[in-house]
Amino acid sequence: MIKVESLTKIFRRPRTFSGPMGALRTLVTRQYDERIAVDDVSFEIPEGEVVGYLGPNGAGKSTTVKMLTGILTPTSGLVEVAGRVPWRDRKANARSVGVVFGQRSQLWWDLPLIESLRLVGDLYDVPADRFTTSLRRMRDLLGLDDFLDTPVRQLSLGQRMRGDLAAAMLYDPVAAHAGHRRSARVPG
Ligand SMILES: Nc1ncnc2c1ncn2[C@@H]1O[C@H](COP(=O)(O)OP(=O)(O)O)[C@@H](O)[C@H]1O
Ligand SMILES: [Mg+2]
Repeated sequence: MIKVESLTKIFRRPRTFSGPMGALRTLVTRQYDERIAVDDVSFEIPEGEVVGYLGPNGAGKSTTVKMLTGILTPTSGLVEVAGRVPWRDRKANARSVGVVFGQRSQLWWDLPLIESLRLVGDLYDVPADRFTTSLRRMRDLLGLDDFLDTPVRQLSLGQRMRGDLAAAMLYDPVAAHAGHRRSARVPG
């Protein structure tokens, strides 16, 4: 369950001045430009729901997802992901979510894809048997077999995205979340 209430993010950037004394002026005036990236957004996503979040470039989609994952702290509003406040409990949250941003890869550029996936498995303490099952599933689901041994830098964009999706789902974030829920449940 994901709950978002009146979520707002305002970026403040020092106002920059151009011209010969521009840099100095930027330093001494300390004026800020404010940009409202996410403006009073509220929604709820129940467990098991598959949703899309659409909007034009610059609408604030990525900024919203960054607040859901704990990468950014909101200016105001509330977020709860599987019972956690992401930026307060960032490490625990990271184990139960997977995220892929198009322009950034979490794969190791110089390593064959399979080695990157093994490293992700190690980083997330995935037990060997679960890693094997999970890798099998990702290979079938995403058709990775043709390029498992190819260094990530040589993959096409589409292949790299499939590799990144595998890396984001490999440690079974949904199961990690289910485990968290079970342990959080009050007996009786
Ligand atoms: N780190 C940042 N500092 C300042 N402004 C930012 C930052 N990140 C995003 N923005 C601005 O916030 C707005 C929303 O950006 P973003 O969430 O990336 O949009 P989307 O993903 O919907 O295309 C844009 O105007 C963008 O320029
Ligand atoms: Mg974006």
